[in-house]
Amino acid sequence: MSVVGIDLGFLNCYIAVARSGGIETIANEYSDRCTPVYCQQIVTNVRNTIHGFKKLHGRSFDDPIVQTERIRLPYELQKMPNGSAGVKVRYLEEERPFAIEQVTGMLLAKLKETSENALKKPVADCVISIPSFFTDAERRSVMAAAQVAGLNCLRLMNETTAVALAYGIYKQDLPPLDEKPRNVVFIDMGHSAYQVSVCAFNKGKLKVLATTFDPYLGGRNFDEALVDYFCDEFRTKYKINVKENSRALLRLYQECEKLKKLMSANASDLPLNIECFMNDLDVSSKMNRAQFEQLCASLFARVEPPLKAVMEQASKWKLLN
Ligand SMILES: *[C@@H]1O[C@H](CO)[C@@H](O)[C@H](O)[C@H]1NC(C)=O
Ligand SMILES: *[C@@H]1O[C@H](CO)[C@@H](O)[C@H](O)[C@H]1NC(C)=O
Ligand SMILES: *[C@@H]1O[C@H](CO)[C@@H](O)[C@H](O)[C@H]1NC(C)=O
Repeated sequence: MSVVGIDLGFLNCYIAVARSGGIETIANEYSDRCTPVYCQQIVTNVRNTIHGFKKLHGRSFDDPIVQTERIRLPYELQKMPNGSAGVKVRYLEEERPFAIEQVTGMLLAKLKETSENALKKPVADCVISIPSFFTDAERRSVMAAAQVAGLNCLRLMNETTAVALAYGIYKQDLPPLDEKPRNVVFIDMGHSAYQVSVCAFNKGKLKVLATTFDPYLGGRNFDEALVDYFCDEFRTKYKINVKENSRALLRLYQECEKLKKLMSANASDLPLNIECFMNDLDVSSKMNRAQFEQLCASLFARVEPPLKAVMEQASKWKLLN
């Protein structure tokens, strides 16, 4: 039996397995090594496609964080009998609530199947990575989801530790145990959260010296800022309310994410064009990086504090040890 490693992201998942002397990332049935976190065709079936549920783990329905997420989601949430957050889905012609553990369980079951197809043998044991800021309740909820999927989760691993391991495994030139370690800073700007860690490496040894994070800063905040900006512009320019049309809104998100990536490589004015956007209307606009930086100044300002804090923590750690 093989043990697989699962990177359970907010937006995407990856599965890895140790074989033939290396770590291999497994491809799904579309030959893609990255599996998106949603279950159905998202653009055509917006209200019944469940995605972006990672932050619902281990929280009650009334938790302010769940309520903030709820506004962003194109599908409905529901309070489960024990007060936890659940998801309302049309399933076999019937509206049905699913516990978040069941939803993530379905995703994990899919990843289990992908692993079994790739490895051509049963898979039960796994390690799942989770954000280092996950609380005990969130961790228990992910463990329960693994159980739903028929997976035996040997341990949950902090994403910051997983990243450091991935770095250390292949490095041939790390200092020997009796020398000063090499300190490395890892910065992970995910779709929904931002994590920073400082790790000390010697040959065969890894020590996480410090970890900081902003659990509410990620790529999606930048996408949202762009979406809000274009929604405002289109309201005056085309007299349309994009936020009332979930399919159009989703397309705008996708285009804004592309535009954001283009702007990071190109500082000139870049076009945003979407055909048949709403009411058979084609829309177009443009933006450049300087405008984007101004629009997102308050988000960019949140990048530095965790970096400073992690350096402070790491130097304190070194003074104490
Ligand atoms: C609440 O109930 C759901 C099933 O409805 C279950 O999956 C979940 O683990 C329960 N949460 C807690 C904290 O007991
Ligand atoms: C994972 O992160 C949490 C919170 O930062 C920390 O308390 C815990 O010790 C970490 N676990 C490991 C195994 O690094
Ligand atoms: C940047 O984008 C503009 C507009 O699309 C294009 O004309 C230009 O070639 C691009 N520059 C680079 C360096 O890619």
